[in-house]
Amino acid sequence: MTSYKELGLVNTREMFAKAVAGGYAIPAFNFNTLEQMQAIIQAAVETKSPVIMQVSKGARNYANGTILRYMAQGAVEYAKELGCENPQIVLHLDHGDTFELCKDCIDNGFSSVMIDGSSLPYEENIALTKKVVEYAHKYDVTVEAELGVLAGVEDEVASEVSHYTKPEEVVDFSTRSGCDSLAISIGTSHGAYKFTPEQCTRDPKTGRLVPPPLAFDILHEIEKKLPGFPIVLHGSSSVPQDEVDTINAHGGKLPDAVGIPEEQLREASKSAVCKINIDSDSRLAMTAAIRKHFDEKPGDFDPRQYLKPARESMKKMYIHKIVEVLGSNNKL
Ligand code: G3H
Ligand code: 13P
Ligand code: ZN
Repeated sequence: MTSYKELGLVNTREMFAKAVAGGYAIPAFNFNTLEQMQAIIQAAVETKSPVIMQVSKGARNYANGTILRYMAQGAVEYAKELGCENPQIVLHLDHGDTFELCKDCIDNGFSSVMIDGSSLPYEENIALTKKVVEYAHKYDVTVEAELGVLAGVEDEVASEVSHYTKPEEVVDFSTRSGCDSLAISIGTSHGAYKFTPEQCTRDPKTGRLVPPPLAFDILHEIEKKLPGFPIVLHGSSSVPQDEVDTINAHGGKLPDAVGIPEEQLREASKSAVCKINIDSDSRLAMTAAIRKHFDEKPGDFDPRQYLKPARESMKKMYIHKIVEVLGSNNKL
């Protein structure tokens, strides 16, 4: 058993309480690689922001869970080396799907886990979440649960609406499961194609797709039912059009990629939403920088030559999110 406390990590409890009270959101950035980890920590230290570094099951399969945990431990030391005396870094399991996976992470240094039972029937979601909470809380690890199903791009608009979190269920769910935070579905979704062109309108001036707004009415109803309770938004990448254009201009093919407009995330950050998940924007920043580099310097073959601009580009994006969208800067 390795406690996250030995690694210098923190859980989300105090961080979320401060974020809800202060009207800002904590960035939750996924990481799979050294360069992502370095960029996340450089951005968090430079902006004096708390940060959640999250690891999906896919990341564990790609990079190995043990390596990622040591990278998170290294991240704490790296933050101190960069001059941050008291870094507030969470190592979080993203979309844990079984009790066993959550337990393995808790036993191996994670300070927070998500148990995603959102695809299960309601009672089964409660039972699984409760089982994880009972184990996690013994070790002071915090637990994120999910209620409602995030829309898939293939869904019809009508079926997306039917998957939104039902405000009438949130009090019963959070009380009986004991979860510390709740991911809700209000129209965000994973990946770089969050809406089909048919679900969007087009800006007549730019020709860009304009996505439908998030369901703020549902968010506000949930806030009223659970005052001060930490709410999480998944699928919150904005899919910056300049990155998509760079990718497409340098041999990529991402037609009609579209994300959540930043103004809406800015508004959500001021509410009980205190954790915002961003993965795809990091992937886009990295890919755009690498594609551009290869196009401009076809002779380069040392990975450091193209990973360095990729890391810089991700860092710029992380800083932008922290300062201009989530408002978590200067909170350490
Ligand atoms: O929620 C999904 C995250 O973006 C993680 O994605 O499972 O491909 O690592 P992944
Ligand atoms: P994006 O695909 O919008 O970046 O969402 C990431 C996420 O929700 C990770 O859990
Ligand atoms: Zn997610």
